[in-house]
Amino acid sequence: MARIIAGMGTSHVPGLGAAMDNGKTGEPYWQPLFKGLEPVRAWHKDNIPDVTIIVYNDHATSYSLDNYSTFTMGVAEEFMPADEGWGPRQVPMVMGHPELAWHITENLILSEFDMAVAGSLEVDHGLTVPLSVAYDQPDVWPTKVIPLCVNVIQYPQPTPLRCYKLGQAIRRAVESFPEDLSVGIWGTGGMSHQLGGERAGVLNPEFDTAFMNNLVSDPAANTRLTHTDFIREAGCEGIEMIMWNVMRGALNDNVNEIYRFYHIPVSATAYGAIILENTD
Ligand code: DHB
Ligand code: FE
Repeated sequence: MARIIAGMGTSHVPGLGAAMDNGKTGEPYWQPLFKGLEPVRAWHKDNIPDVTIIVYNDHATSYSLDNYSTFTMGVAEEFMPADEGWGPRQVPMVMGHPELAWHITENLILSEFDMAVAGSLEVDHGLTVPLSVAYDQPDVWPTKVIPLCVNVIQYPQPTPLRCYKLGQAIRRAVESFPEDLSVGIWGTGGMSHQLGGERAGVLNPEFDTAFMNNLVSDPAANTRLTHTDFIREAGCEGIEMIMWNVMRGALNDNVNEIYRFYHIPVSATAYGAIILENTD
């Protein structure tokens, strides 16, 4: 049977990817961030799953605002890095796992999560930057990837509780896949940040830290937050953190915190990463 072994939450700041792509990681601005990512990368090197479900959002790159679905499963064989205005990132093609992706999709729909299905999808920084966070700059990504795209950019977004329940349903679906596969799941985006408007630049370390603490020991507390709580406390784009609830819902009630890193600012964002391993 397939099983979920661990989860990661990580911000997906595009500048982080650009710093890597342009050889700037040693510059004083970036050096502390990449130093803090060393243990993340060391852990990922030793814990490569067969497949990773990456819960991310498209930033009006592949989707237009006229055509957006709440939850979309990527069932393709491969996913091209998207051109976000500077040409596609020069990172490896993202290889999918259609059999598991279809199995999860079928199970989710039959358990009343009405997923949209993408047979082709170009993936933006929301998905490729977390891969760079975990695996640095390999010739080939070491894990297959199932993209799970969540609408966090256009009202009405799914609730934080719905995201958590989706994670629980994903876990049940994974565990009913007959092949013996190890599966990772990542929630991406966040932490506190707001890119435009009067409150542009909002950062809230207290909120972010409480959210990460809750992920470890009281995940239900993060499901009781409302959209307004996220926006008020963590800025408009802070709502991306609801995607971390999908990841957490797919793990056991009890988890081990393997590593946590928090650094302010990275671009306009509070950068956070956390790795959680299932315990029995
Ligand atoms: C930034 C952060 C994001 O999450 C994003 O999607 C785009 C930009 C930033 O901080 O620059
Ligand atoms: Fe984002």
